[in-house]
Amino acid sequence: MALWGGRFETKPDELFKLFNDSLPVDAALALQDIDGSIAWAKAIHRAGVLNADELARLTAALTKLRSEISDRPTLPLKDSDEDIHSWVERRLIEAVGDLGKKLHTGRSRNDQVATDFRLYVRAEIDARSAELKDARRALIDLADRTKTVVTSGYTHLQRAQPILFAHWALAYQEMLERDAARFADARKRVNVCPLGSGALAGTTYQVNREQIAKDLGFDGPTRNSLDATSDRDFVIETLAAASNCAIHLSRLAEDLILFASQEFGVVEMHDSVSSGSSLMPQKKNPDACELIRGKCGRIFGALATMSMTVKGLPLAYNKDLQEDKEPLIDAMRQLSMCLRVLVRVLDTLKVRESRARETALDGYANATELADYLVAKGIPFREAHDVVGKLVRHAISKSKRLEDLGFEDMHGIDARIDARVYESLKLEAGLMRREIAGGTGPNAVASAIAAARSRLDA
Ligand code: ARG
Repeated sequence: MALWGGRFETKPDELFKLFNDSLPVDAALALQDIDGSIAWAKAIHRAGVLNADELARLTAALTKLRSEISDRPTLPLKDSDEDIHSWVERRLIEAVGDLGKKLHTGRSRNDQVATDFRLYVRAEIDARSAELKDARRALIDLADRTKTVVTSGYTHLQRAQPILFAHWALAYQEMLERDAARFADARKRVNVCPLGSGALAGTTYQVNREQIAKDLGFDGPTRNSLDATSDRDFVIETLAAASNCAIHLSRLAEDLILFASQEFGVVEMHDSVSSGSSLMPQKKNPDACELIRGKCGRIFGALATMSMTVKGLPLAYNKDLQEDKEPLIDAMRQLSMCLRVLVRVLDTLKVRESRARETALDGYANATELADYLVAKGIPFREAHDVVGKLVRHAISKSKRLEDLGFEDMHGIDARIDARVYESLKLEAGLMRREIAGGTGPNAVASAIAAARSRLDA
């Protein structure tokens, strides 16, 4: 059953119908459409359009349909209605007869779909927020397990300075914490109710828009009907938060893929989140992390899609806006999988402590400490930098670590070096000197773990 047709002489072309129909996609909004419809029925009852008995019969039928769909979300997919709004209305009319035809009084699919989609996006944001919390918890747990594991930190992917592995894990927890905040912020602008905006100019029925908003858990009604029926920046904003999050997950996945390679060998992923090769029997591939990295493109693609769809649209509703659902639904589903798989990767991750330590010992990562040691002797930093550079070059030529150079060697390069230099070259010495808020000192990291956990639980 089409919701229109009176004005038309011919039925739609088959290919056009296929092109125009959105039911295969917006069937995902069935529950939201029913919730919105119940709220609308109450609103027009209060406005005197429906009597109490009519309201009760409509509400009962909608509630029954709701539970049918809860049990079988794919139910609408077997039908050929134009969209989920048409589907719900047809089913309602089948259930209660002509009374069902009264529900759409004063409502347009334009304010209806905007309302449904806001309800949907809100629920998705809430689900991602919970998943982000789990992922942050996994990172904090990992930090807890690795708070004494020393490893190399990198800049330019070159060994730079020793850090605690926990410090690395906490860096990603910071990123995900910001992502959670971005979702929470977007939610504020998602959570307003367009119902009552009509097709574009506002409904002619004196419905109580504050009450409708309240019934649906919105913070309040939208303020302008033209904007309310055509605004999709709540979708763009949510996808921007999702993309940012996906970018962080991709970086994390990339780090883990590198760390798991034989070249690094610092972590090992559990068999349960790895795959083998069909040809090379020895292989164990980090597919979970590669897919997390790979999904990022798809999620960002959804943001680009939505931005381009809205750009250049004249006010108010245009059918282009029907293109909003598929990217959002897909991006949110993919992000959800990424976050949930990540938790399994992290919870089962094996960190190889002795190998991690080797990477910190082998890369002249204590060169900065040596420079600081010289600075403490009153040598200007620039000059100290140069002396240490020479010492590193000398050590490389002898295939030795700095701490393995003999005292004569060191003293020969700069006479101001004394025997206490070896103390400053120890790995732990470098870490201890970074007991600064936000730094990798063991105490600083321990407090960072505790602080992150208490923010998570707050
Ligand atoms: N399926 C449509 C969408 O998703 C519903 C709104 C249709 N409105 C209209 N004026 N044709 O945008």
